[in-house]
Formats: sequence, C-alpha cells, structure tokens
Amino acid sequence: MKGTYRILIGITGGIAAYKVPHLIRLLKKKGAEVKVVITKGARGLVGEETLRTVSGNPVYSDDLSLYDMDHIRLSEWADLFLICPSTANTIAKIAHGIADNLLSTLALSIPETKLMLSPAMNTVMWENQATRNNIQTLKDRGISVLPVGSGELACGVCGEGRMIEPEQIAEVAISFLGKSDILKGKKVLISSGPTEEPLDPVRVITNRSSGKMGAALARQAMLMGADVTFVSGRACHSLPSGVKVIDVVTAEQMQTALCEHFKTADICVMAAAVSDYRPVNYFSDKIQRNENGNITIELTPNPDILAGLGKVKGNRFLVGFSLESSAGVQRAIAKMEKKGCDMIIYNRAETSLGLSTNRVTILGKDGFCEELPVLSKDETARIILQRIAERLIGAHA
Ligand code: C5P
Repeated sequence: MKGTYRILIGITGGIAAYKVPHLIRLLKKKGAEVKVVITKGARGLVGEETLRTVSGNPVYSDDLSLYDMDHIRLSEWADLFLICPSTANTIAKIAHGIADNLLSTLALSIPETKLMLSPAMNTVMWENQATRNNIQTLKDRGISVLPVGSGELACGVCGEGRMIEPEQIAEVAISFLGKSDILKGKKVLISSGPTEEPLDPVRVITNRSSGKMGAALARQAMLMGADVTFVSGRACHSLPSGVKVIDVVTAEQMQTALCEHFKTADICVMAAAVSDYRPVNYFSDKIQRNENGNITIELTPNPDILAGLGKVKGNRFLVGFSLESSAGVQRAIAKMEKKGCDMIIYNRAETSLGLSTNRVTILGKDGFCEELPVLSKDETARIILQRIAERLIGAHA
C-alpha cells in the first residue's frame, strides 16, 4: 500500500455534513492526508474550526476566491476527490459540467477517475427521474458513485437516501486508492446471499446470510480491475457501479444463472448460502393453522450448484465457502475435494453470519493454508482475491 494518500473531501449542504469530522479521523487513522473544501450551503452544518483541527489543514471555501488558483492546485494535489455528502444539486451540477463555486470547479478540473461521490438526500429527491438520470450520467463517465443507505432521514421519513456510514466510506475510499490491476481482464462470477425456497405464498425456507461477504468480494474484484457478474439471493448490498447484478430467489434459479455465466467466467466464487433442501410441495393457498397436531413438511435436496460447476470447470478457478458451526478445517478440505474446487474458504457461523467482519482460513488444493485474523469483510475479500490472482499468475508463469 502506498505511504500517504492525499484525499480532498468536498462537503456540500446535506445534514450528513456533521459526520465528516469523524470520517476525516478514520481516513487519517488509515494513513491519509486530508484537505477539505466546503460549499456555502454546508457551512452552517459542520464547524469549520473542527474540520481545520481534525484535518490539520486550512478549509477551502468560496471566500478564498478562485483568483488564488486553488482549484488547480488542489486538484493537482489530490489522489481522490471525495464529495460527501453529495447533494442532488451538486450531483446535477457535476453531471452537466457547471462550475459556479470552488467545489464544483474542482470537480470539473480533476480527472473523473479520481472523483467519488457519496450521495445524501431525501427519498423523493433520490428517486426523482432527474437525479436518476444525473447519477447514470456520472457512472457512464467513470465517476464512482457510492450507494445510499436506507433508514430514518433528517426530514423524519424513512426511506432510501441516507449517506452511508463514515466507516463504509473510509473503507471504500482507501481500497479505491490501493486498487491494483491484478484481475484486469478477468471475468469474475460471484454468488452471494441466501436462497429462499417458497412453501406457500407467505412462507419461505431461508437462512441468515446477509450477502455482505459476497458484496465485499464484488467490490474488491472491481477494484482489482475484474469484470464482475454478481448472482445474488435476496440481500441488501451496496455494490459499485459497473457490477452486473442478476437477482435470483431460489437455489434452482441461482443454478440456472450461474451455469449460464460460468461458461465465460475465468474465476467463480460461490459465497452464497444455498438452501440444501426445498419443500416437495408448494401450497398455492396459505397453509392454515392445524389445532389438532403437528404438520410435516417434506423436503427434497436442492442441486449442489458448486459440485455441478466443479464437474465442468475446465481451467476456470473455482472457489467455495465452507461455513461450519462446529467442524474444523478438515471438513472444509473434504468439501473442496468432493466439489472439485481449487480453493475453499473455511469460516464459522458465529464469527461470520450477518456480521461486517469475518475470520477465515484460506485453503488451496495445492495444500496452501492461511489463517486470517478477524478482519472487515472487505479486507478479507481483498486477501482472498489476491491469493486467487497469485495462483492464476503462478499457473501461467
Ligand atoms: O456443503 P456446504 O453447503 O457447506 O458447501 C458450501 C459451498 O457449496 C458453498 O460455496 C456454497 O455456495 C455451495 N453450495 C452449493 N449448492 C448447494 C449447497 C452449497 O453450491 N446446494
């Protein structure tokens, strides 16, 4: 990782501006140097003295007028211009090349690949077609647009449009700066999240997978230059633009999507928690309560998708996940062999399921074994992909 990253943070007039001092501290802890530029609209929402103190640098605003050539000096200085929160207004300006204050002038004078936006606005503004079109324009120009979160907004309503948390922004920003090209040109297929097997129109059989590990793998693979296809069961995940997402519900749908995209893949990582069984019968009418005793639901095995891919894998690199509740790595090694994988990631339910961190052991069919400590899922994903890339390079050396 490079010594010091230079991050210019642009703050526009969203309430989430108050979270930026915390973000600056996180970025500095990760070794970044930070400077701040602020719009008029943001000035009342976050203390400039606080920003100056936590960043250790002057705060730039329209007061220090453009005659000073700040826009050129700052855009040359920055490795990344991170605009957060990014209001609908600033998003619209950047989409249309409007440069009417220091921040938007900077956005126009920096290469688009160095620009990252973390939007924050009210749900109606977020869903407005004008905003949707502007975001698409930015993504098409290669600008990184982070996802928004959902929850309670400053206006009191619940919905999409919250700025994602400073911890997530810091993680993505630092990963972005550390990006490499080791998977450039590789087609990476990732399965993620839980599958759902319907029992009746209301009930499903599913599991507690959050899809966070799969999403982290997709993000990190993108940062390494891969072309990513993401087959996902129902899960909330934030993915960078450019990931091709295929939403599925059942194990059989997941199998169909994976088999189709496996044909052109170079690497496939099965991070999904696939339901091993599905009900034999689907009740088209909601099953009614039976006061007189137990009911029995007969289950039939789902296809083992990974084992099926293992049979036709050719020279693709195939990775499975082995989530265990009590067994050790031996069971994972046995699964790797049985399912025809090149690598398997052993993890345990209590240190993984639903969490933002994971503790994994990477096991290779070449006898490779690397036990990682508890790390964020993004960091875990980065190391897993790095090990895959090393093996691919080794195979072609
Ligand atoms: O045997 P187990 O379910 O622990 O195997 C885990 C691995 O196999 C994971 O990579 C999972 O995505 C995959 N799997 C599958 N199809 C199933 C069950 C699991 O592809 N029906």
